[in-house]
Amino acid sequence: MSEDRHIDHVTTYYHTHPINEQQILDKLRREGVDLTRVSEDVLQQYDQDHFGGVAANEVLAGLARIEADTHVLDVCSGMGGPARYLAHNHGCRVTGLDLTESRVVSAGKLTRMAGLDDRVAFRHGNALDNPFPDKTFDVAIGQEAFCHIPDKALLIAECVRVLKVGGRIAFTDIVERNGMTEASRARLRREMTFTELQTLDGYRHLLEDAGCTVPHAEDLSAPWTDILKQRLEMYRGLKEPTVARFGAAHFQKWDDAYSFFVGCYETGELGGARLMARRER
Ligand SMILES: C[S@@+](CC[C@H](N)C(=O)[O-])C[C@H]1O[C@@H](n2cnc3c(N)ncnc32)[C@H](O)[C@@H]1O
Repeated sequence: MSEDRHIDHVTTYYHTHPINEQQILDKLRREGVDLTRVSEDVLQQYDQDHFGGVAANEVLAGLARIEADTHVLDVCSGMGGPARYLAHNHGCRVTGLDLTESRVVSAGKLTRMAGLDDRVAFRHGNALDNPFPDKTFDVAIGQEAFCHIPDKALLIAECVRVLKVGGRIAFTDIVERNGMTEASRARLRREMTFTELQTLDGYRHLLEDAGCTVPHAEDLSAPWTDILKQRLEMYRGLKEPTVARFGAAHFQKWDDAYSFFVGCYETGELGGARLMARRER
């Protein structure tokens, strides 16, 4: 698939994702939250689009030592849930970068709604062509997004380039494990827009090649298998709004794709990785 077609594939996938701004706002309204006064303490329970919710943000914050004077780049920031969480809970400044324009627009709206736009900003762009100058950030984070990006060596090099020397990159991602068949790989590419999946060790080597030491490399495959079974049920619970917004065929397609994805954790073909690395030069 050409680079442009892959970008269209990923952005269409996220533009028609069951977790979206309208679904978040409808859920808040149904639960009686006054949207003119929504606080980040409430919003953060609804707007995270990665595995493990806000607790996962907290683990990355601890590993990367995020504090009030840290400037964080959230690579593939989606609707900005982790960016707002970090700014609100740790007092830091966060800049988000995302490929899907509608996600960037939603991230801005939700951030203004939570009154965090003085510390959290978003930019539309491709992480492979990172628009920020060298040595801008203290920390880069990413969650369940690098799996969509081809050329992981370039991706990691770009993340490290925009870190100050001594800066940290902390991320989690969906990774390939032993025994993944070519048929599974092709289906995950077609239906989940995953491309050139890495392994835990592969990421460690890419980080070292980019001039980092890697004090933390953790296999999350077992806990993610349980989290993902629950996530499949969560998506099934969103059937009504998903059908209303995108149609029954879209819901069915999503359900088939996500069931297959979760099945790959059960067969051991897919796993999860959490890494933290430090730029040394
Ligand atoms: C699973 S969402 C994660 C969002 C966010 N990290 C969170 O935890 O809520 C993955 C995001 O990656 C973005 N993405 C995929 N490929 C990208 C790329 N090449 N550059 C920037 N963003 C990308 C998608 O647009 C999507 O918003």
